[in-house]
Amino acid sequence: MAFKVIQKLPTRSSNSALVVAVSTGNNLPDFDLPEETLSAVRIALKRGDLEDSANATLALHDVPGITIPRLLLVRVAPFRKDRPASSVILLAQGIKKALSGTSCSNVILALDETLCAAPLPIPEFVQLITTAFIAEHYQFKALLKKQNSVTKPPTLTFLAGKEHSTAVKRAAKQGAAFAAGMALTQDLGNTAPNVCTPSYLADQARALAKSHSATKVTVLDEARMKRLGMGAFLSVSQGSRQPGCLIAMDYRGGAKTQAPIVLVGKGVTFDTGGISIKPSAGMDEMKYDMCGAATVFGVIKACQALDLKLNVVGVVAAAENMPDGDASRPGDVVTTLSGQTVEILNTDAEGRLVLCDTLTWVEKYKPKAVVDIATLTGACIVALGNVCSAVLGNDEDLIDALRKSGQSTADTTWPLPLWDDYQTQLDSKFADMANIGGSGGGTITAACFLSRFTTNYPWAHLDIAGVAWNSGANKGATGRPVPMLMHWLLSQT
Ligand code: BES
Ligand code: MN
Ligand code: ZN
Repeated sequence: MAFKVIQKLPTRSSNSALVVAVSTGNNLPDFDLPEETLSAVRIALKRGDLEDSANATLALHDVPGITIPRLLLVRVAPFRKDRPASSVILLAQGIKKALSGTSCSNVILALDETLCAAPLPIPEFVQLITTAFIAEHYQFKALLKKQNSVTKPPTLTFLAGKEHSTAVKRAAKQGAAFAAGMALTQDLGNTAPNVCTPSYLADQARALAKSHSATKVTVLDEARMKRLGMGAFLSVSQGSRQPGCLIAMDYRGGAKTQAPIVLVGKGVTFDTGGISIKPSAGMDEMKYDMCGAATVFGVIKACQALDLKLNVVGVVAAAENMPDGDASRPGDVVTTLSGQTVEILNTDAEGRLVLCDTLTWVEKYKPKAVVDIATLTGACIVALGNVCSAVLGNDEDLIDALRKSGQSTADTTWPLPLWDDYQTQLDSKFADMANIGGSGGGTITAACFLSRFTTNYPWAHLDIAGVAWNSGANKGATGRPVPMLMHWLLSQT
């Protein structure tokens, strides 16, 4: 999607809309508009046609004094102090809704005091609204035969003072890159599970690497994983006709000597539960069980779009969890790449099985930090609903930094304790550990399991079960938390 930064209003702009922010107290914009224009706005406000609620809009047409055909008044309420980023998303939704169905191809946003009032600095506002505005226009129509045209979102044009111009350009570029990453994450998540198999993900990774010289891809097939001793990973993929694979996308934008940041994504392309089979209602949504992996893809794509000066390795544990004559049974004991043995008491706790071997494998990168992203537990939705991700890990600074970035990008996370008190729930009589921890604290015991494979580097775990996709009429992948991870990566350049 295109964006522009301008310093004065265009004199001819036949198919644009100028967004004019109006505060709750009917304060008019404080950028220069001709008196005739302002008086038309005043009349409309006096009539009470602009509802007095946040993000209400009123379109005025062919207002005197300016040549821009549409003037879109937007009611901007003070942003939520605790989570301003979510206010910006609602604002983007309001603008999009007001213009949808029109032929408007260019939205001009005047970055005045009324629009981006504190607590958000202008660049942060620009990054947020760019991402949100593009993401609001996301559509997935790849598998529709009819109506295959995707409508192009309007260009976003920022009207900013000269002193802000460079920062605004940079922020808009970042915002657009975040959105491009999200769109890839959404596309992969939404793609039907008979299409989006582990091999399909491997092909997507190869395609992504081809598009940028700093990215290299390695794919480990099952034979290779077997030779390495990844018994936990293979215990999941052995129940499917689709071979599993481990995909590493090595993006090297930083100095050769710089230790990489490793992102590990759960890529279960369909989770039936295996022999511990899930109930059938809503099972189609388990195609989204690769959204952690899709997030990793989205982040690598955004890194490429920004030519990020950092080394980032995106690793995807791709497998399908199916019941089959060859599927693993409850009671099976497998040996992980780390050498520790696991008693599989529930084949539906498969995410941690593919992740644990992958988390051991990534030690070879001598990572600066490892973040895994996984739709790991239904318990996470019980605890936190669909509002935020859970974060756990072995490094408080890393967790804090991720949470700060999430606060800035509307990808909020909430910490859960990873105390030793929970570890005993994984005790097994027949192996070093069981793969489930009993009824309570499911998100924590899943993280406890992973923690036994992440002792050699700073590590954080994001359980994105509640935020990776929407159910119901709005069904679809959200592309989250790509913005949070990108914001965090950018903070390290
Ligand atoms: N992919 C699921 C977790 C999940 C379920 C995410 C529903 C989002 C929505 C995971 O593989 C799983 O099945 N976890 C089990 C673990 C249990 C068997 C210990 C769960 O959460 O029930
Ligand atoms: Mn499962
Ligand atoms: Zn799963």
